[in-house]
Formats: sequence, structure tokens, C-alpha cells
Amino acid sequence: MSNINYRSVRPLIDSAAPHLFIETYGCQMNVNDSEVVLSILQKAGFTLCQKPEDAALVLINTCAIRDNAEQRILGRLEYYRQQKKRNPHLLVGVLGCMAERLKDKLLENPVVDLVAGPDAYRDLPRLVGILGASGEKQINTLLSHEETYGDISPVRMDPNGVSAFISIMRGCNNVCSYCVVPYTRGAERSRDPESILREARELFEAGYREVVLLGQNVDSYSYGETGFARLLAKVAEISPLLRVRFSTSHPKDMKDEVLLTMAAYPNICKHIHLPVQSGSNAMLEKMRRRHTREWYLERVARIREIMPDCSITTDVIAGFCGETEADFEDTLDLFRQVKFDAAFMFQYSERPGTLAARHYPDDVPPEVKTERLERIIALQNKLSAESNRRDVGRCFEVLAESFSKRSQNDLMGRTSQNKACVFPAAGHHIGEYVTVLVKDSTPATLLCEVVE
Ligand code: 5AD
Ligand code: SF4
Repeated sequence: MSNINYRSVRPLIDSAAPHLFIETYGCQMNVNDSEVVLSILQKAGFTLCQKPEDAALVLINTCAIRDNAEQRILGRLEYYRQQKKRNPHLLVGVLGCMAERLKDKLLENPVVDLVAGPDAYRDLPRLVGILGASGEKQINTLLSHEETYGDISPVRMDPNGVSAFISIMRGCNNVCSYCVVPYTRGAERSRDPESILREARELFEAGYREVVLLGQNVDSYSYGETGFARLLAKVAEISPLLRVRFSTSHPKDMKDEVLLTMAAYPNICKHIHLPVQSGSNAMLEKMRRRHTREWYLERVARIREIMPDCSITTDVIAGFCGETEADFEDTLDLFRQVKFDAAFMFQYSERPGTLAARHYPDDVPPEVKTERLERIIALQNKLSAESNRRDVGRCFEVLAESFSKRSQNDLMGRTSQNKACVFPAAGHHIGEYVTVLVKDSTPATLLCEVVE
């Protein structure tokens, strides 16, 4: 890590502990990366602030997965262009996947002073130091085959202190044809299990009661002798009071060994996020998912055989290149068969440089994409409502993680299956395990009372 004394070379910022504001967009991995960035910059003398107006340096950690994610960031940059009129000393940096995708093109934007890709965060104190001293724009978008930030303890920004993300690997080797991630996050690499276990232990000792193990494809985690199932078991053995979740699983790699490990440990949560993307074999082939609809359904059947109470959620893309009405019907049909508990649903958005962008025309008209997306959302809303209704009258152990969004008199906690339960707070606190009885439900929430 750079040992430039940031404060001595930064005439653009005169406060003793310069203030940093971080905005995060995109996935859970990005949330965790922002915590890594905060850890690195705190060591370099920065203090986190809660409002961009108080900051000397604003960092925007970005997502590039769909065009609308990038448009949102461009909107934020426009906002900071206005802010800079009021405060000409303000420095603005772009981090993450959009930084990696657009590289120096982003520096052409007058508001952007700094660009750093996902593997360049250790270099931030040096980059910010030079920027502050010289006013010259800085960029580092080198991708790495080794970087896992394994030795860095992320500084957690969630005030509740109950659930924390732990990245167990970075990058992705799958090259699904629609996806920009392999280009923005580079090749897959797994983190040393000892550093993962140390981080999980420290979190538990600090009062955390849940860890979420993150990777683009957790099933291909591999470090020496340790595969994902072994890692899961080791984390679960830290304490029966520590819940373990993970995301994301890939249907082509999800092994029975992982399912059997989940079943063997009550504190490994019974929820699998298993993106399907499409129910049509023709689309799956073009998407380069390397599994079929039948394979996916077999994996779902196996999950349910081994863990009848496991929830299954998914991601799906409507309107991929050449998708016919019949292909889309196959997706609806698969949703009806599987009865997902929840789903993230998207319209296909062509990403420059991907295999799909190079080989297949983006030929489903926008209005057809929108209409298909609406149909799958309507179907999933029904399935989510049904899934939640099935839980009415049942008891669950939930981990209280925050106050409910609607009222400070209620707590929100999740079941092992990752369903949000709302129940009266009286006599209970955040971080506590509470047994609740489901009295009623909406498509998004289980309304509960506490069982004494
Ligand atoms: N267009 C639309 N959705 C996409 N996803 C990934 N790439 C694209 C794209 N180009 C979706 C997939 C993935 C989720 C994180 O985002 O469903 O699982
Ligand atoms: Fe996360 Fe993918 Fe968005 Fe990058 S592009 S932030 S990996 S969702």
C-alpha cells in the first residue's frame, strides 16, 4: 500500500481529517467493496461523512450491468457538476464496474477527477494524494489475477450491526453472453479461507449474528483443498448463533455436497438464489449458460428433496436477442412449475463488448421487452403472494435486523428462508432471535406476532 502522507500533499483539502462521502450502486458485492474502500481511506486519514455537501471527496461506486444503471450514475455526475459550482474544491471519483468499463472515457467528463476499477482500491490513497497535490486527474483500471482484499477488514456502514457481507471470491470466469461482469471484474479468484474465517469470527465477536458469503459464482469457490461446501461448514461451525447465507449460486455448478452441508447445519439459511435467466433451451444456449431447462428443473427438484423447506429465488431476463413469444412462454411456464418465492426481473440491455453484442442483434422491440417484463412481474407477484400465504399459521425463528420501515414500534427480521417478517418490537431488540407466528401476509412481507 502507498505510504504517501496524504495530508502533507493535499493543499486542495485543508481540514485535518478530510471528509469522504461514498455512494454505492449495484449489487451486494459493491456494498462490500465500498466498505473495503472506506477501510483503506480511513487508514489514509479520511473520515466518513453522511452528506455529500460535507465532503472534500465524493466516491461513486458504480454498476454497469444494464444501461439504466449507467444512466443513473450519469445523472449523479450531473448533480455533482452543480455541487462543484458551489464548492470548486470538491473532488469526485468514480469506482467500480462503470469505471472499469469506460476507463479514460469517464475522465473526459469535466466533473470526474478520479477513476479506479474494482481491483485498484489499494492504490486510492496514492491516486487521491497526487490528485490533491497537483489537481491532475488520476486513473487506475488495472485488473488483477490475485487481488482479493483478503487482509483488509471492511469498515461496516450499516448502523444495525447484525448482518455483514463477506466476499469469498472476486471476478467471474463464466462469460454468459449478455453479461459485462467478466470484463469489469476480471478473472475469478478465491480468497484464502483462513482470512474469511477470521473475518467471520471477528464479526461474531463484535455482535454480528449473520454473515452473507458473496461471490459471482460461489459454487466454483476453490482454495487449496477447500471447496465451497467445506468453507460453508467451517463458517457455520464458528457458532450455532451465527447465521450463514450466500449468493450467488450457478445452476450448472451447484452440487449436492453443498445442499447436504446446508441441510446438516441449522444455522446455514435455507435459501438459494439460483438465477435461471430464461426457461427456453434456445435462449439458454445463446446466453451461454451451459445448462438446460431440464438440468435447472432437476437441480430444483434436488434442492426440494434434500431441504423441503428451502426457498428458491431467481433472476430472469426478458427480451434477450431473438427471443420469440414461444421462448418467453417457456420462461413463464418454468416460473409456474418452480413457483419461485421471489425473483429479480429485468429487460435485456445490450452491453457493448459482450459476446451477445458482438454476435446477436438486439432485435426484440423495446415495447415487446416491456410488455414481457410486465407479464413476468405480474406472474411472480402472484407466486410471491401465494408463497407468503402458505406461511400463514406457521412459526419461524427470525433474526431481528432493523426497525420496520413503517413504524419504530415494529421490528423487521428474516426467516431462514429470507422472508421479511414484521412484528411488535416491545421487549425485543435488534440482533435478537425471536420466534414469531405468521398471522397474515402481503406479497413482500409476513405480518407476525411474537410467540412467548
Ligand atoms: N441485461 C439485463 N439483465 C442483465 N443481467 C445481467 N446482464 C444483463 C443484461 N445485459 C441480470 C441477470 C443477472 C443479474 C445480476 O442481472 O439476470 O443474474
Ligand atoms: Fe455488481 Fe455486476 Fe453491477 Fe458490477 S456490474 S456492480 S458486479 S451487478
